[in-house]
Amino acid sequence: MSIHIAAKPGEIAEAILLPGDPLRAKFIAENFLEKPVCYTQVRNILGYTGLYKGRRVSVQGTGMGIPSISIYAHELFRDYGVQRAIRIGTAGSIRENVRLRDLVLAVSACTDSGVNSIRFGGKSYAPTASFTLLKTAYDIALTRGWDPKAGPIVSSDTFYTEDPDEWKLWAKFGCLALEMECAELYTLAAKYGREALCLLTISDSLITHEQTSAEERQTAFTRMMEVALETAIS
Ligand code: HPA
Repeated sequence: MSIHIAAKPGEIAEAILLPGDPLRAKFIAENFLEKPVCYTQVRNILGYTGLYKGRRVSVQGTGMGIPSISIYAHELFRDYGVQRAIRIGTAGSIRENVRLRDLVLAVSACTDSGVNSIRFGGKSYAPTASFTLLKTAYDIALTRGWDPKAGPIVSSDTFYTEDPDEWKLWAKFGCLALEMECAELYTLAAKYGREALCLLTISDSLITHEQTSAEERQTAFTRMMEVALETAIS
């Protein structure tokens, strides 16, 4: 076991889905995986391994924000040999053509977080998706007619910002949506020589202040999960 994950060696699959919410991990395991086995409950961050179409896949919560996903991604890559990590989360749209319930594929992640600034001594690193995973997921979503949007996103350290217009600068420079974890996942995957992808469904709009209902979130989430699972095993 590692410091924050109770799994024994070999209990976590090479491919893992990473929702922020541990109860999402439980939901995915119980509804989409065959023979799911819970391998960790430390801090209520639940993790499961099961079979999807006969292939081993794990799914584990990461908590919210860069420090939290950083701890789990570190241990998954370093201590459990995870090869492919696919984050599935929600994001706020900062572009008019990115609408509620849209599926966004994060090609890269800008960030206002201090983590990479500290790590790279003030130099600017460009956290980037695995091209292979990105292409696979994009093609799967296209084939199903789900009009995926691929582009740069922003991983922010603050959900409740002091300046309500802060997002506009990111939008001006081409970013599609705001979330809070992707930059760190991409950076750590690169550090350990692994593959990572972040899939997002748009849960709210910073432009119009609309929000999806719980039911809409569930439907959109199910689509994203299907893309993530198919990508994980391909
Ligand atoms: N900001 C940051 N993270 C988010 C948001 C947001 O508006 N919506 C969903 N995740």
